[in-house]
Amino acid sequence: MTGFNTRAIHAGQDPDPATGAVIPPLHLTTTYKQDGVGGLRGGYEYSRSANPTRDTLQTALASLEQGARGMTFASGLAAEDTLLRTVCRPGDSVVLGGDAYGGTYRLISRVLEPWGVTHSPVDLNDLDAVRAAVAPENVRVIWCETPSNPLLNVSDIAVLAEIAQASGTLLVVDNTFASPYLQQPLTLGADVVVHSTTKYLGGHSDVVGGALVVADADLGERLAYHQNAMGAVNGPFDAWLVLRSLKTLGVRMDRHSANAGRIAEWLLAHPAVGDVLYPGLPQHRNHDIAAKQMSGFGGMVSFRLKGGEEAALRVCERASLFTLAESLGGVESLIEHPHRMTHASAAGSPLEVPADLVRLSVGIEDVDDLLADLDQALA
Ligand SMILES: Cc1ncc(COP(=O)(O)O)c(C=O)c1O
Repeated sequence: MTGFNTRAIHAGQDPDPATGAVIPPLHLTTTYKQDGVGGLRGGYEYSRSANPTRDTLQTALASLEQGARGMTFASGLAAEDTLLRTVCRPGDSVVLGGDAYGGTYRLISRVLEPWGVTHSPVDLNDLDAVRAAVAPENVRVIWCETPSNPLLNVSDIAVLAEIAQASGTLLVVDNTFASPYLQQPLTLGADVVVHSTTKYLGGHSDVVGGALVVADADLGERLAYHQNAMGAVNGPFDAWLVLRSLKTLGVRMDRHSANAGRIAEWLLAHPAVGDVLYPGLPQHRNHDIAAKQMSGFGGMVSFRLKGGEEAALRVCERASLFTLAESLGGVESLIEHPHRMTHASAAGSPLEVPADLVRLSVGIEDVDDLLADLDQALA
């Protein structure tokens, strides 16, 4: 197999046979001419079912995650919904990391629960608790987000995969924070990888999307059926934007990781800052697991303010090069207050996040400019 960056640029992306165009064409079409009834060219019939630009992205993502099949969707949550409604039935249950993304928790607890799918939050680092949680017959899925949003906890994918296999459940890993450049969960035994391609895979804060990549071709077949039957697909232009961005994923992630590492160390020494949550710091509670399963530590850094919620809100409002905004994973740096913004939907639940927490999505600007901005915001 060729290297990651070579596959990011070339997998599924041969020059167009019709014209030689080096970049895969953007197929903005809903339907395809048939050569006689049922005479499809290349299997293309209708763009909800299949579109060449989406197919190219799906092939590239499957290659980067080393999976059997990739599927892309209108958003990360559309991908999650399609997955959960394919593998769960009323009466089934999902074991969910205790600090999953608030929107994932909302989907499972508020949308799927009324349809009879229950859940139990568990600390995925407490392996006895995980074994106990998967013991009931009706558990179908262990849902693991690593590193997690926004607390940057890291779970041991290989160990969770063993537990999942022994109990007959599927291990799903949300790989949004790491991206396949830094971590490939399927190679560690996970069954399904989930992405919000809105984040590092898109990388430029200009496209919302989601993806699933699976290890098993039969599960891939069932999911592809539901992708078409449920219809939450991404449009061709959205797929094309992510494809273009994949080509620079490796160089972007290297720079995100280098900048975030510098900023995490700087924050650690700041008198106004309490805990700094970054898996690359030797003092991070899961640093050893992160070092074992990731090839870099990514661009996300969270930290807690000694001055509490008021101080956290002030930093968010005073930052200027760090733009106050939700989302993450773009080339530009963002800052946000998870308790009131991205994770507001977890308020009052076991997944509620601390009010003194600030989350940074560290971009690829010059790190000295980013440090100067944080310095004035924390002054
Ligand atoms: C870790 C993680 N998973 C899934 C999602 C959902 O993705 P989307 O917003 O593309 O629906 C997000 C969004 O922030 C996320 O951070």
